[in-house]
Amino acid sequence: MSLKILQTQSDFKNASLVSIDQLNLKSLETILNRAKEIKQNPSKFRDVLKDKILFSVFLANSTRTRLSTEAAWLKLGGSLTSVVGDQDTSIKKGETIDHTLQMYAGYQPDVIAIRTKQEKIPFFASQIFSDISWVNCGDGNNEHPTQALLDIFTIQENFANIEKIKVGFVGDIKHGRTIKSLARLLKLFNTEMYFFAPESLHSKQELEQLGIKYNQKQIQDLPLEVKNLDLIYATRPQLERMSIEDKEKYQKGVYQITEKILKDSKALIMHPLPIDSSNLPEVDPNLETDPRILYFKQAANALWTRMAIFSLLQGI
Ligand code: NCD
Repeated sequence: MSLKILQTQSDFKNASLVSIDQLNLKSLETILNRAKEIKQNPSKFRDVLKDKILFSVFLANSTRTRLSTEAAWLKLGGSLTSVVGDQDTSIKKGETIDHTLQMYAGYQPDVIAIRTKQEKIPFFASQIFSDISWVNCGDGNNEHPTQALLDIFTIQENFANIEKIKVGFVGDIKHGRTIKSLARLLKLFNTEMYFFAPESLHSKQELEQLGIKYNQKQIQDLPLEVKNLDLIYATRPQLERMSIEDKEKYQKGVYQITEKILKDSKALIMHPLPIDSSNLPEVDPNLETDPRILYFKQAANALWTRMAIFSLLQGI
């Protein structure tokens, strides 16, 4: 089993994007330049996917990723059909995911964008049904490559030198596929990274195995350390993916980024969203209008980044 490295435009043509392992600095340049080009002049790409079909298969909860994925495809002129949740699928009749995916692939869409509860499904699908272009939109606790790309696009819009910034990841590192995926891209730039989490939500071993220097911090250290950070990337506790043991250990409401914490800080704030307002929200709602908050701009960048990814995978 092997993964294709995507660097130049011709590498992307008809390929799958299922893992951060496929990306290096050259790949980022190709994708981010395209995203910038589309953002500046979206009408130039209006009809490039005419007669192309996307299957948008979201077998786990999603709002932003699914809608921006579908909007990106439609804005490029393609057509699509969606599977939203596994409730209405034959998985609920006992069909295996392998059979389900074999069916989807058999109907010959041009791209299948897929989110799954289980890890590695998009990777295996891309290996087994390799005539289809698969895009991983989040597989369990594992990876979220398209989110990491839109995150990097947003960082690049706000910082001239990604190499020189200090990034603090805050929240649920252990179950946060967005954090793990973005940290792997930032590693390509040798960006300095710090990891602030409640004890049970750290993931030192896993990130070190991925080659990331894990500067571990206590969540209580954030107010003291925030003045050294240029960027905070916060996440919610991902309760739906925690083991019973982790859920028991996790104390609700132990972290929140507030105006007080940010008082003497220049740090910009990103978040993949959603913010969990059913508990203590990870970012104080009073901060929402603060110019340091980037997450709505970040979410909007999903459109340009996913348009870039789709156009490249379709050989445009
Ligand atoms: C994230 C995800 O699904 O991993 N959100 C997203 O894709 N925009 C983060 C989350 O659900 O907390």
